[in-house]
Amino acid sequence: MKTVTVRASKTYDILIGSNLLASLGVEAKKLGKAKKVCIVSETNVWPLYGIAAQESLEAAGFDTVTFVFPAGEASKNGITYLELLNFLAESQLTRSDLIVALGGGVVGDLAGFAAASYLRGIRFIQVPTTLLAAVDSSVGGKTAIDLPAGKNLAGAFCQPSLVLCDTDTLNTLSRDVFRDGCAEVIKYGILYDPDLFRHLEVRGPDFHREAVITRCVELKRDVVMEDEFDTGARMKLNLGHTIGHGVEAKSNFSVSHGKAVAIGTAIVSRASGCCDAERILSVLRQFDLPTDTEYSASDLYRYTLSDKKRSGGTVSLIIPEKIGLCHIVPTPVEQLLFFIEAGL
Ligand code: GLY
Repeated sequence: MKTVTVRASKTYDILIGSNLLASLGVEAKKLGKAKKVCIVSETNVWPLYGIAAQESLEAAGFDTVTFVFPAGEASKNGITYLELLNFLAESQLTRSDLIVALGGGVVGDLAGFAAASYLRGIRFIQVPTTLLAAVDSSVGGKTAIDLPAGKNLAGAFCQPSLVLCDTDTLNTLSRDVFRDGCAEVIKYGILYDPDLFRHLEVRGPDFHREAVITRCVELKRDVVMEDEFDTGARMKLNLGHTIGHGVEAKSNFSVSHGKAVAIGTAIVSRASGCCDAERILSVLRQFDLPTDTEYSASDLYRYTLSDKKRSGGTVSLIIPEKIGLCHIVPTPVEQLLFFIEAGL
């Protein structure tokens, strides 16, 4: 097992390894005080890992209650959020109790936002069961729900008290969901780590799971410690995301997040004239991720502008210069259309 410690507004450990779900109760107990735990999960994950999580918590002496909602991004909304808050209140969770978010990014974001706001904040544990959640969304305290006007428009920064990443849970991921997470793993290589990128080039999807997840988490830990509230360095984690969100939105979310990020990454790599663009495109293809889109530059431009990361008249694009070196480039919206055209 590997341990990565985050020292941000809260200090917490990220545990990464095989068969860790069995230790959830013991690890939760170390956080002290709580009597009751609400396990929040969704309908795909709960049948696979719910009972193991519950048994581990109960064996450690916790009372448990469970809130399981329909799987999918469509559930990450105000209705499910309020249902969860009501459930927490009816279950009489107190300020010293705990929420466990058992699932992928949707579960983590929704349960995290409920934890951030219920009783003005209670502690929560992230138990990511997708690669994307393991390397990205479970770390760093971004929590949110979607609004009809867009993705993640209501939320809070709220760090978890523990992240427990059992790498065995990744064995049941569909190929598609696994590939989605790979887009984020490749992102870390492009942003910060030529050795990680080379490992991905050599091994492809058969990369060393525990080592790669740990490296990505370390990289994210460093960024979160430098810029917890996303006003500077953390914005680099949006490599491929700004235009990727345009792809997602234009497809009405039928193109998954990871694939949209892959397309966004390919577009910025080509448009910026990055000297390693061919290597980036080739590694994306090696992971069977898309590098092209049928959407026009003007469609992408329109949907990209509705992204929440727009600030006044500029959009911050993350531009790769070479593998391991990327820059935040505030781009006037008038230039964005030409940039996207150049990258298609
Ligand atoms: N997922 C990007 C971030 O945590 O900042």
